[in-house]
Amino acid sequence: MILTTKVHQPGIVDMEKLVSLAKRRGFVFPSSEIYGGLGSTWDYGPLGVLMKNNIKAAWWRAMVQERDDVVGLDAAILMHPRVWEASGHVAGFADPLVDCKACKQRFRPDHVLVQELVFGGASAWVSGIDAESLRKAHQRRMTKTGTFSLGQELNLHEALSDVAIDQISCPACDTVGSLTEPRMFNLMFKTFVGPVEEEAARVYLRPETAQGIFVNFENVQTTTRKKLPFGIAQIGKAFRNEITTGNFVFRCREFEQMELEYFVKPGTDDEWFRIWVKARVDWWTGLGIRPESLRVRPHGKEELSHYSKATSDLEFRFAWGWAELEGVANRTDFDLTQHAKHSGKGLSYFDEEKNESIVPYVIEPSGGVDRGFLAFLTDAYVEEMAPTGEGKEELRVALQLHPAIAPVKAAVLPLSRKEPLVALAREVHASLRKHWSVQYDDAQSIGRRYRRQDEIGTPLCVTVDFQSLEDRQVTIRDRDTMKQVRMPIVELVPALRERLGF
Ligand code: GAP
Repeated sequence: MILTTKVHQPGIVDMEKLVSLAKRRGFVFPSSEIYGGLGSTWDYGPLGVLMKNNIKAAWWRAMVQERDDVVGLDAAILMHPRVWEASGHVAGFADPLVDCKACKQRFRPDHVLVQELVFGGASAWVSGIDAESLRKAHQRRMTKTGTFSLGQELNLHEALSDVAIDQISCPACDTVGSLTEPRMFNLMFKTFVGPVEEEAARVYLRPETAQGIFVNFENVQTTTRKKLPFGIAQIGKAFRNEITTGNFVFRCREFEQMELEYFVKPGTDDEWFRIWVKARVDWWTGLGIRPESLRVRPHGKEELSHYSKATSDLEFRFAWGWAELEGVANRTDFDLTQHAKHSGKGLSYFDEEKNESIVPYVIEPSGGVDRGFLAFLTDAYVEEMAPTGEGKEELRVALQLHPAIAPVKAAVLPLSRKEPLVALAREVHASLRKHWSVQYDDAQSIGRRYRRQDEIGTPLCVTVDFQSLEDRQVTIRDRDTMKQVRMPIVELVPALRERLGF
């Protein structure tokens, strides 16, 4: 083991460094950058697309390939507009919203509690998203102004008939006068099918992949003859016209979801909810997310979506703090019942044991590919002082990604650009790339090439030197330990397979 000194706490990383590395090394570029970019849309570059595909492949393997009770689906992005009436998105995504210009958070006015505090001849309006945060806002004000008497507790929607919005503080960041007037806002992107842009032709870009699964419940169940409990999994693009954006690929207007709708018998739903929360935590940590970077946060009653009986967020410690990486929800029979009602088609399941038709309950683990990408990058990033070949020390940046997630699994590095070394190195590269994504890099010194591969997270480097021409042996160098071992070329494939784990 080569001794290194970490120069920061692993898992704690400055966002600017990540964004800069992602751009510099070809992971992520701002979309349409030569035109100045388009807010909160991103393009994944040559390494980014490899890494994103690895995340999706790992999810599919665990959720579909290795299970008997889950099958896959790839539904269309454009769906009949009535799908979104049934799901509640047309009505539910059209709430009046206020934005905070300071902290960029967005609130439904009827979900914000406000109260007037009267002190001396003056008064102030404070707010909170629940009773507890309103009480904390009182306390903060108390330290500034001393004692006060309390006015009536209202929600922001009610209060706005008596008080101007610029007198009220933001429930999240406490800034006075930072909230905008309420505006009706629907998060769904709209477009038109066919040549005429009229109301009758209006369709939406799906804001979640889940509905494609629900409307295909009967198709999938009858063609696969799956018995409860069983799941339908899907990975695909979703679109939301987010007002509050930012934090790199955390909140995008176009993003990818990995969703499973797991159909269970009513009454077994609580147990399956617990099973899926644990399974999803295990999946993230099994791929290298540090346990201390992940936590499970159950939603309070007031926070639950209209369809949910229980929801737990898997939160990741991003560079700016804890935020949702994945949600696991008990959606009950809401979606199937709604689609049955709106389509007129009975979406039920015949329970042979009980000899009756039932509407299954649904447990939904729903994760974001882009948020997963950012979480893996964040947790993998390390900066450390490492020894150089000349016996000095230098700063080394490495992405200690799990081999399954790393975009490039190995790099073949010839010590010279001269023949016949190049022919041998090319031969090694050709044999390895049949199995994995493998780079060939012959530019600059070997030390710089190692650092380049460390920085993109390549777990193994294979160095071909002049001695290799004589003994047909090469050196394998491990990214994390920087340890090197020499071995015959004929043993390379099994040796890499053992080290990578696949
Ligand atoms: N079908 C349930 C559903 O869509 P959600 O919590 O709104 O639930 C699920 O989204 C996941 O999709 C989130 O946990 C997050 O990872 C991802 N996601 C949601 N909105 C996103 C956005 N604007 N940008 C990137 N990822 C997003």
